[in-house]
Amino acid sequence: MTTRTLGVVMNGVTGRMGYRQHLLRSVLAINEQGGVTLDGGERVLLDPVLVGRSEAKLADIAARHGLARWTTDLDTALGDPANSVYFDAQVTSARVPAVVKALEAGKHVYVEKPTAETLEDATMLARRAAEAGVKHGVVQDKLFLPGLRKLRRLIDGGFFGRILSVRGEFGYWVFEGDWQPAQRPSWNYRAEDGGGIVLDMFPHWNYVLENLFGRVEAVIAKAVTHIPVRWDENGQEYKATADDSAYGIFELEGGIVAQINSSWDVRVNRDELVEFQVDGTEGSAVAGLRRCRVQHRSATPMPVWNPDLPATYGFRDQWQEVPDNEEFDNGFKVQWEMFVRHVLEDAPFPHDLASGARGVQLAELGLRSSAEGRRIEVPEL
Ligand SMILES: NC(=O)c1ccc[n+]([C@@H]2O[C@H](COP(=O)([O-])OP(=O)(O)OC[C@H]3O[C@@H](n4cnc5c(N)ncnc54)[C@H](O)[C@@H]3O)[C@@H](O)[C@H]2O)c1
Repeated sequence: MTTRTLGVVMNGVTGRMGYRQHLLRSVLAINEQGGVTLDGGERVLLDPVLVGRSEAKLADIAARHGLARWTTDLDTALGDPANSVYFDAQVTSARVPAVVKALEAGKHVYVEKPTAETLEDATMLARRAAEAGVKHGVVQDKLFLPGLRKLRRLIDGGFFGRILSVRGEFGYWVFEGDWQPAQRPSWNYRAEDGGGIVLDMFPHWNYVLENLFGRVEAVIAKAVTHIPVRWDENGQEYKATADDSAYGIFELEGGIVAQINSSWDVRVNRDELVEFQVDGTEGSAVAGLRRCRVQHRSATPMPVWNPDLPATYGFRDQWQEVPDNEEFDNGFKVQWEMFVRHVLEDAPFPHDLASGARGVQLAELGLRSSAEGRRIEVPEL
């Protein structure tokens, strides 16, 4: 069995996502397991070159993981013909110019979401990647979560009958940063730095909804900045200019109505940090990150409204756990493996920059819906 190497420029690896999910849990984990196996049995090892702004941080990561290649000069990394893939997990506001450079250098590109801050930029990237004839993709990790994979299985098996509605609840309390440090980077709370929960989460909701239930045809959203002042990584007080909660209604093709709350200002009273309840004529399900529970039509109790009496049973106990029935690998890693096969043997990869642009479109239209206080139809791109 032969083994080959694929050079990957990794920009933004000092960040939360770039380091943990993409370098450690995907690229290095893939090499540890012996690479990505192609159709003919050939194995592909990934050879990352770490790119970032801080020499000290890059050298530290490289030393910690025995990696030889790192640079603060993106052009040098892109100039090396051994690197055929460019990956970007930088802050969103830094993404577009770097991806344009990579496309100009003829690299295949794989990027974190959102692909850009504006629909105009996102479609420009998708168009330029198509024109360049390179392979391109965007991270759509939520589709690979065990909970959502089980939901997909239920849909494919016809469990729901006709799906009526989807209700999603995402969020947790993000500390303001004064008396306890914030657990997310401060740029997320500044609009001028590419922050905002709509731009962060609506791209996720778009691919989740379109992959599982159908295209989003219209949006009504209310975006709010509940916490107007926060404290940054250096303990400096700053004005939170970006939305930190969004209340959205999404009309899907086929008449399904999805409502999703996204918030960094809610305290969790749920089993998981994100949960989707799907109600259909034949049954319902609640899917989280890992778990999925169902209630079939035949086992649906008949609650009777009577506020004079205490509830005599726990409604949540009346649901049944969907078994794993398979091993679920890290979703980021699974998608990396898919992308490598897409680059090297043209394996299907639907998560392209056009679908990334549709996510940015939903964010942009959601913000417009909120600003103008009206329902907005989502044109097909
Ligand atoms: N797929 C997901 O579930 C998911 C989750 C969180 C974040 N993200 C996305 O990943 C990207 C990075 O998010 P993160 O949470 O890792 O952020 P982070 O702040 O932890 O990391 C940002 C990275 O960008 C680099 N950078 C480049 N130019 C910069 C600049 N001008 N200012 C600040 N940093 C700069 C930083 O050095 C760092 O490596 C964002 O686009 C975000 O939307 C995706």
